[in-house]
Amino acid sequence: MTTLEIKDLHAEVANPDESGEPIKILNGVNLTIRSGETHAIMGPNGSGKSTLSYAIAGHPKYTVTSGSITLDGEDVLAMSVDERARAGLFLAMQYPVEVPGVSMSNFLRTAVTAVRGEAPKLRHWVKEVKESMSELEIDPAFADRSVNEGFSGGEKKRHEILQLGLLAPKIAILDETDSGLDVDALRIVSEGVNRYKERENGGVLLITHYTRILRYIQPEFVHVFVGGRIVAEGGAELAEELDANGYVRFTQTATAGA
Ligand SMILES: Nc1ncnc2c1ncn2[C@@H]1O[C@H](COP(=O)(O)OP(=O)(O)O)[C@@H](O)[C@H]1O
Ligand SMILES: [Mg+2]
Repeated sequence: MTTLEIKDLHAEVANPDESGEPIKILNGVNLTIRSGETHAIMGPNGSGKSTLSYAIAGHPKYTVTSGSITLDGEDVLAMSVDERARAGLFLAMQYPVEVPGVSMSNFLRTAVTAVRGEAPKLRHWVKEVKESMSELEIDPAFADRSVNEGFSGGEKKRHEILQLGLLAPKIAILDETDSGLDVDALRIVSEGVNRYKERENGGVLLITHYTRILRYIQPEFVHVFVGGRIVAEGGAELAEELDANGYVRFTQTATAGA
């Protein structure tokens, strides 16, 4: 049983205009995710959802100014990016990075070796990757291609889920994993996430601004994210309401209270 606990988290990013003040993005996020739970964070563009995922994963551009993140009581903010991954945190990024010159298969093996603490036995490994790729309907030829280089949006997202399955983290943060997917890809990717949940009893934080993916991956908890914090919480029915009415009710309240 694992618990990721985020308390009153504030974070900012350096101003692209170097003489300007840092830009405050997260304004007091409180969120607890346990093994086996699926949480959806839904919010309009620019509300700080990706920033929250970066703060958890340890992206160097985003500075946590106050608050805490702990994983089973351990201080995540004191860990390096690698240590966070080894501790069992995984982030599927909204915009996966391209790594020219590094093949997908080398990348996966290196990542898995780092996280598991030992290199997987070659024979098992080849079989494991093959099976995982076939579950996600990824062409085996992708193993030799450079990481994400020239991949379509949907191919990048499938590879994020391939990594999720192989790395088997305790808590997975999926940032807009649904964006840019056609109906078939959405189903395949969702099935990959559900398999991960079943096999690992993982905790999932699903960041999205559409409710479409929530038909395939059912969240027990839905959080509305506006202005760098959670402004409303509920169950799956809240997602239905957002689908029907949008975020206006919440953005108006947030502005009025600011
Ligand atoms: N590196 C950055 N430099 C400047 N502004 C940033 C940076 N990262 C995020 N922001 C700003 O912070 C706000 C929140 O961004 P983001 O976390 O990507 O929102 P979301 O994922 O909810 O769309 C936006 O207004 C965005 O422009
Ligand atoms: Mg985003």
